[in-house]
Amino acid sequence: MRSAPTPPLDLDSDADLLRMIQTDDPAEMEALFHSAHAVRRRHYGDGVYFRGLIEFTNYCKNDCYYCGIRRSNAKLTRYRLSHAQILACCRQGDALGYRTFVLQGGEDPHCTDAWMESVVRDIRAEFPRHAITLSLGERSRASYERLFRAGADRYLLRHETADETHYRRLHPASMCLRARKQCLFALREIGYQVGAGFMVGSPFQTATELLRDLRFLQALQPQMVGIGPFIPQADTPFGRYPGGTLTMTLKMVALSRLLLPAALIPATTALGTIAPDGRERGLLAGANVVMPNLSPQRVRKQYALYDNKICMGDEAAECRTCLEARIRRYGLAPDLSRGDCAGWRSDVRREAAAGAPA
Ligand code: 5AD
Ligand code: FES
Repeated sequence: MRSAPTPPLDLDSDADLLRMIQTDDPAEMEALFHSAHAVRRRHYGDGVYFRGLIEFTNYCKNDCYYCGIRRSNAKLTRYRLSHAQILACCRQGDALGYRTFVLQGGEDPHCTDAWMESVVRDIRAEFPRHAITLSLGERSRASYERLFRAGADRYLLRHETADETHYRRLHPASMCLRARKQCLFALREIGYQVGAGFMVGSPFQTATELLRDLRFLQALQPQMVGIGPFIPQADTPFGRYPGGTLTMTLKMVALSRLLLPAALIPATTALGTIAPDGRERGLLAGANVVMPNLSPQRVRKQYALYDNKICMGDEAAECRTCLEARIRRYGLAPDLSRGDCAGWRSDVRREAAAGAPA
């Protein structure tokens, strides 16, 4: 006997959303991925935006229990790229066609406001039309303002989990969800395109936490949403916990797309790490961004957030070629433009931040 057709999803209802988070019915999941793909096409067509990722420091003063670059990991060789090396990465990225640079690092006390500001200013001066995305963790509002004025456009800061109790189980007492949320709201007020997000399958996470993550995203309305599976890293306290699954991660990508139709959602490296075609499947379930690595090859291995990370041996150019081929194979089209969030007016935001009349 055929099962009854699935009723349309009411995303306002927690009960419906929870049911979708928990479903393992293949037809229902297929329908979900399909609708997410259709919504993404309505806003972005078949284009997939490329971002050049520069992992410029693996020093971190924090000690998140899940993260391989946490300060207590004595096994890790630490590195920090110089100002000149970062600029060289940007030049290489520009030559490869990238129009967004993502500068990502641990919370490294050596990266002072003055130093970061000079790096951002120099990138901005040399590449006036490119987008500069920062991902430097929690900083003061004054610091975020200064870096915005220096020319940064976007900021990625995953909230990791929107549940207070769960947050405390993933982080030492020196970190709290309230501070993280304050940073996110400050970044938004300053005028950044903001990215939040979370890991799927992190220790102690249940469907209720995932529901809260989705509701938090709805409340924040970020322009970008980063979602990837938790992957254990052997030298961390969570090294022996099971990782997040491909299916659950894809469901969360798809639900995020339905709840935030115009968001920029990457098919993350972590997704590509847990399944050979993970990123492609992410792109077919609502994601529309990829972030190929631009970091110098000799430091790649050291940016070890989790084990078995892919693309360690590839040069920047190889990453681009490989990703382009994968995207085309699935009928999607690499898009090397700046790729702002649909409907975003950077000119208006910038003027407002500078105090100019709107
Ligand atoms: N597995 C998956 N993602 C991780 N991150 C940190 N550690 C891990 C891990 N073990 C993610 C966090 C962080 C981002 C830069 O990487 O969500 O925000
Ligand atoms: Fe660096 Fe979590 S370990 S911010």
